[in-house]
Amino acid sequence: MTSSKDAAPDATAAAGDGFATRAIHAGQDPEPVTGAVTVPIFQTSTFAQRRVGEHTGYEYARTGNPTRTALETCLAALEGAERCVAFASGLAAEDAVFRLLSPGDHVIMADDVYGGTWRQVAQVHTRFGIEVSAVDLSDLDAVRAALTPTTRLIWAETPSNPLLKVLDLSALAALAHAHGARLVADNTFATPALQQPLTLGADLVVHSTTKYLGGHSDVVGGAVCTDHATAEQLAFLQNAVGAVPGPFDAWLTLRGVKTLEVRMARHSENAAQVAAFLAGHPAVSAVAYPGLTDHPGHALAARQMSAFGGMVSFRVAGGVEAATRVAESTRLFFLAESLGGVESLIEHPGIMTHASVAGTALEVPPDLVRLSVGIESVTDLLADLEAALAAGTTR
Ligand SMILES: Cc1ncc(COP(=O)(O)O)c(C=O)c1O
Repeated sequence: MTSSKDAAPDATAAAGDGFATRAIHAGQDPEPVTGAVTVPIFQTSTFAQRRVGEHTGYEYARTGNPTRTALETCLAALEGAERCVAFASGLAAEDAVFRLLSPGDHVIMADDVYGGTWRQVAQVHTRFGIEVSAVDLSDLDAVRAALTPTTRLIWAETPSNPLLKVLDLSALAALAHAHGARLVADNTFATPALQQPLTLGADLVVHSTTKYLGGHSDVVGGAVCTDHATAEQLAFLQNAVGAVPGPFDAWLTLRGVKTLEVRMARHSENAAQVAAFLAGHPAVSAVAYPGLTDHPGHALAARQMSAFGGMVSFRVAGGVEAATRVAESTRLFFLAESLGGVESLIEHPGIMTHASVAGTALEVPPDLVRLSVGIESVTDLLADLEAALAAGTTR
């Protein structure tokens, strides 16, 4: 009998079902040649073949790379998907999903979807015959009214960027399916640690892995998690179009994912305290955080998420000038686009991340400030915000 110490390492088989265990072990068996416990960065563009047409499963690194496979296997395990396909950015992942459509197909998109997603559909895919409607997806009657015989996708983002609206994924999935459409959920803000859209009925989950999955503001990437048949079409596009993540990017993302569960718990704890602090501050006219009991989506978020995440948006009394000054006055919260890293960030969506939707139905309030609450000591974060609000709103 072989002792477990001598047995061939098979961490995936031994991984068990726990989320954190999957994050650390799924797709990440020790490397068979050396036993390296970390998946190597297979920094190669091609793979030697044994004979003509006889290869190891890897031929050319656009088509497949073992580091990327490890990331895809892990993300599929975390989302409860049959398969995941990784891309060079979140928008590249979304582009692949839209390329599943044909001219004349119609998409219903949340009316506060990430500005870059809207720009891609409205300015790129509509040129190839895709039709799109922006709809308040929290209003199911409005969704029903927007559905047409050519609607193929409902595109939900929950919580949304930057208004943190919460959408009912089960209800949207039921509506989509009753009309022969599919539900896409952008799970970038919640991550599978807090919300699992496929178990709620969604058909595809998209991610900007640049954010919480990578978690350290050091890599750009994207992914789609879905069923085998759809993933096969996406993998075809991944190879045919070529927007693939490099092996180092895949490795960085995979390393970030290992700590996703503990980071999301801390992001959520810190954000809850930041939201409560802002809600009681006289220079703040409104706070959007699904964890606040007066948030319109609170009860729904409590049902479909296990915690409320690390994103908080708020409106500054005093308008756009005051909001801009607050965003420029923090010391620990870096003034920067993006989100989901260990460090806290602050930004002005109207001028920074969502400028591409200015003048459209998706325009965000000019006095809105968005926080990506990091995992620093929360007392330091609160003191930083207190000082910035004082500096920004008293002149
Ligand atoms: C919710 C959401 N989806 C998609 C994207 C696009 O991802 P990427 O910047 O990795 O292309 C972003 C980027 O900010 C985002 O916030």
